[in-house]
Amino acid sequence: MTTQFRLRQALETTPAYVPGKPAAAPAGITSYKLSSNELHLAPLPAVTEAITAAAVNPALYPDPGAGALTSALAAHLGVEEANVLFAAGGAEMLSAYALATLEAGKNVVFPWPSFELYPQLAARQGAEAKPVPLTADFRHDLPAMAAAIDANTGLVLLCSPNNPTGPALRHTELEEFLAQVPSDVVVVLDEAYLEFCTDPEAADGLALTRRFPNLALLRTFSKAHGLAGLRIGYTVADPALVMELRRTVLVFSVSQVAQAAALESVKRYAEVEVRAKQVAAIRDDLVAGLRAQGWNIPDAQANFVWLPVTDEEAASLEAAFAASGLAVRKLPGGIRISIGESAAMERVLEITAGGPGA
Ligand SMILES: Cc1ncc(COP(=O)(O)O)c(C=O)c1O
Repeated sequence: MTTQFRLRQALETTPAYVPGKPAAAPAGITSYKLSSNELHLAPLPAVTEAITAAAVNPALYPDPGAGALTSALAAHLGVEEANVLFAAGGAEMLSAYALATLEAGKNVVFPWPSFELYPQLAARQGAEAKPVPLTADFRHDLPAMAAAIDANTGLVLLCSPNNPTGPALRHTELEEFLAQVPSDVVVVLDEAYLEFCTDPEAADGLALTRRFPNLALLRTFSKAHGLAGLRIGYTVADPALVMELRRTVLVFSVSQVAQAAALESVKRYAEVEVRAKQVAAIRDDLVAGLRAQGWNIPDAQANFVWLPVTDEEAASLEAAFAASGLAVRKLPGGIRISIGESAAMERVLEITAGGPGA
């Protein structure tokens, strides 16, 4: 890369984020965007009202400490307010973690394939990316990840349920893993899709933060809460780590509208969870339908399913979906389909009906 500007060398190897495509709109059919793992349900009416009320005066800066929201969320989770910090989405919080832990000479260990932002964080900081391949059943290979940690590891990222493949980490395997990680290495457990998870053996990250102070949770209001457009997420971490993150997180990045919406959604967490489980039921039906057609679908615990196919098959499938008005996400190793309304799911099954290799 050559440019006329004096930029950091690390940018030469930093990929730009590729967003999910909008759905193509072939004439006469309704199109659906199933490419960004958004919630397809309408917002809770009380949340919409909170948004409208908070949007009245944008002249003022938002509360930089998100006071009301922090206290409501801390009470809901049963943690101290000092354990909680908000950012403009999980993505900004991940960035704050990278700024706090990574630089040239350091490395970050993460599962792969997983969230596309992880390698980008490493590259941007000039740090070494240590992607650890998933197992044959698309799960984190935690023994291999533990073995990849060395004296220069600044950050370990875990994703449960894993985007884009779907399985959740199991409690016992996570516990065993954490016991092997040096206690001064920050481990971020990305739980962006937590509310959709129905695996009874899934890890209880919150409980493990009490035993392992180097374990931090990353959560977002973008998925189950349906607030992706407002940009708000948070971390639950040791208070000493939260203090350090306050140096790297952008001040005023979380708007008052986002804070008000999230506060209302926290008050209605029970409703949010019911809706997330409805999404999970649609997901389970889709998984069953795809498996009946012969597809090898990994355990799906989030609001998407993963079709592991070759890059050529992925390209032709993506084109077939697009021709039918469905935007899905083609990623290295497969196609990820977000859960949407029933009509969209039925159309998915029509397109995949021939099974793999058709
Ligand atoms: C695994 C994972 N983590 C974090 C995020 C970040 O979400 P947001 O920045 O919208 O909170 C996403 C978004 O797709 C994700 O898939």
